[in-house]
Amino acid sequence: MRVLVITGAGVSAESGIPTFRGKDGFWRNFDPAKLATPEAFARDPKLVWEWYHERRQRIRNAQPNAAHQAISKLAQHANEFLLVTQNVDDLHARAGIPKEKMVQIHGDIFVTKCSRCDFRRRDYEQEHPPSVAAATYGAAGEHEQRDVVPRCPECDALMRPGVVWFGEQLPLNELRRVENYFDRGRCDLVIVAGTTATFGYIIDWALRASRHGGELIEVNPEETPLSQFATRLVREPAAVALPLLVNQLIEL
Ligand code: OAD
Repeated sequence: MRVLVITGAGVSAESGIPTFRGKDGFWRNFDPAKLATPEAFARDPKLVWEWYHERRQRIRNAQPNAAHQAISKLAQHANEFLLVTQNVDDLHARAGIPKEKMVQIHGDIFVTKCSRCDFRRRDYEQEHPPSVAAATYGAAGEHEQRDVVPRCPECDALMRPGVVWFGEQLPLNELRRVENYFDRGRCDLVIVAGTTATFGYIIDWALRASRHGGELIEVNPEETPLSQFATRLVREPAAVALPLLVNQLIEL
């Protein structure tokens, strides 16, 4: 069985990570859609860093849920498998999906990259906690240390989270990996879970992968623009639906 799974924020919701467009999505009254932009970073890099700092902390304290575990189980049982996730958290990885079977199409929140040059590093924030960053890069005062925006050790420009912001290009390497998977054959099964499928490429990938008779299953308590194309709709939370669904599929 050749499988494609596409996930979004709803899959991590039951791990306590707020979705973008859900009721808990707002942070300090800011709309995430307005914070996750190059313009917001240019205007107020400290604010954007603080938002990402808090999100990283929340993710570090969270655990993968039954939906992440079920997807990993499916990955083990499928002959060929690719997970394309829009989530920048590491919960799929911690649930055991190997790197080569996963594409994080919107980047990785634990990567920090330079806003100007190619410098990038994973876990930069942990290696350079705010107090060290302040000592290295100079902060106005002790009380401001938490707000320090680190600077690139190579070119001194501001560092930024290694995620895709609104209006930015998707990472080319990751796009290529998705295309390569499509080029190698059609899918028997496509599962799209926990995403509003706002972006055209998500719908496009789901339809392309399933178009030659593959099943297209949507797992989402709410209707989305993809629902009309699904061959099966599961209107339940992912952590409830996916373990049952995966067990059914494996038994088949
Ligand atoms: P959204 O916040 O847009 O949507 C979350 C989806 O999950 C909604 O369709 C909910 O109905 C559904 N949902 C909520 N709880 C669920 C649960 N327990 N089980 C299953 N589904 C549940 O998040 P995404 O679709 O992931 O991009 O958003 C896509 C992208 O838009 C994000 O990656 C981010 C955002 O802006 C960038 O930052 C580039």
